[in-house]
Amino acid sequence: MTATLSSIARETIARFENKSAKIGILGLGYVGIPLALRFSEVGLTVLGFDVDRERVRELNAGESPIKHIPASEIEGMKRTGFEATDDFSRIPEVDAIIICVPTPLSEQREPDLSYVVSTMESVKGHLREGQLLSLESTTWPGTTDEVLKPYIDARGLTVGEDFFLVYSPEREDPGNPDFTTRTIPKVLGGVTETCSAVGMALYGTVIDKVVPVSSTQAAELTKLLENIHRSVNIGLVNEMKLIGDRMGIDIYEVIDAAATKPFGFTPYYPGPGLGGHCIPIDPFYLTWKAREYGVSTRFIELAGEINRTMPEWVVSKVAEGLNERCKALKGSRILALGIAYKRDIEDCRESPSVEVMEVLRDRGAVVEYSDPYAPVFPRMREHSFDLESVELTPETIASYDAVVLLTDHTDFDYDLILEKAKLVIDTRGKFREPKPNVVRA
Ligand SMILES: NC(=O)c1ccc[n+]([C@@H]2O[C@H](COP(=O)([O-])OP(=O)(O)OC[C@H]3O[C@@H](n4cnc5c(N)ncnc54)[C@H](O)[C@@H]3O)[C@@H](O)[C@H]2O)c1
Repeated sequence: MTATLSSIARETIARFENKSAKIGILGLGYVGIPLALRFSEVGLTVLGFDVDRERVRELNAGESPIKHIPASEIEGMKRTGFEATDDFSRIPEVDAIIICVPTPLSEQREPDLSYVVSTMESVKGHLREGQLLSLESTTWPGTTDEVLKPYIDARGLTVGEDFFLVYSPEREDPGNPDFTTRTIPKVLGGVTETCSAVGMALYGTVIDKVVPVSSTQAAELTKLLENIHRSVNIGLVNEMKLIGDRMGIDIYEVIDAAATKPFGFTPYYPGPGLGGHCIPIDPFYLTWKAREYGVSTRFIELAGEINRTMPEWVVSKVAEGLNERCKALKGSRILALGIAYKRDIEDCRESPSVEVMEVLRDRGAVVEYSDPYAPVFPRMREHSFDLESVELTPETIASYDAVVLLTDHTDFDYDLILEKAKLVIDTRGKFREPKPNVVRA
């Protein structure tokens, strides 16, 4: 295929392969920072761009804004030439422009591409011949072609000839020590074959296995399929939990037994709802785009519906547990254990724990929380609690009418919780043996 490449494409590929290229990463968050670390690890110079001046300051000072990434790694990256900036006129310095900005939902639960669009607005006047632009943010199929490409065309550059455009979704499992940026295979789709070849050369320098697909749209839909697969299966297992609860069957015993089947079954576990920046949000990017084609996404809607009712269901179990002890929810002191959306990380975005806390508060309970990863309740767009994390001691645990285990951080002392709590509402299946003070939710 190299024979069909333009000389500009060959030059860009050579710069990636001989590591003389400079890599621009736009959006220095949970996705952008690990990627920057990986590029600098292999000896490529990284210039990071972010609109958040505090984020830029922190990184240039060698501080880490993300708890599971030590500051020493940021320092190390600085030593290999990393710099952060909010000055987008420096875009011509870089050979690759990798966009990792947020793609949330609007209040109407529709895709909000405003961060991607504002990034393109900031870079459009600075794009130059020979650059590769890669979008990594999760989005609906067609975004790269319909939203990004027109900016490049308008600049007078020709995609596939003197400028290269790909979509390569990020796959990350924050806090999971078993996988790194290098070892997680990366899917990539180019607008043209040449774009794909240039993109493969870029990511081939840092990722063990890059998986090419035939188009940017196929790569965009691949990412959505992965996350919809999780959302639907979690919805299914949450529904199974409700059925098991009514029938008096232990859902965890059932899942563990089913998981002994060596083929055709993947275990998913129930919980207090869906959390994080991806799984509760991304499926609705497809729902929105599918409407344009007159197709409805029934599995996505149904899973969303089931998963969204989980916090309410958890609160109903708290109320039942208190009722058994002749107590009302109103006025009871309740401790939420864990507010991050999953274990052993500090990210509280879209966390169902926070929703449970909110429903409890709305019903008149006095709610506090304990989370070793969030010493102060984080600022959130939709939720507000003026609280600090409660230290777990025998006295504090015993002082609440109920404790609700929402995020099963490894650091929690589960034996102490079991011993001292008057009532434990367990949404994570942590307490498998039946105990008089434990209620499953
Ligand atoms: N966090 C994950 O585990 C994960 C995994 C896979 C995919 N993703 C996807 O990756 C994308 C980024 O997610 P994240 O979790 O890293 O977000 P994040 O909020 O941690 O980081 C985004 C960064 O982009 C910056 N930013 C916003 N607008 C900008 C602009 N116009 N120009 C430059 N920087 C700008 C923000 O200040 C922030 O620092 C999203 O599309 C998300 O769905 C995230």
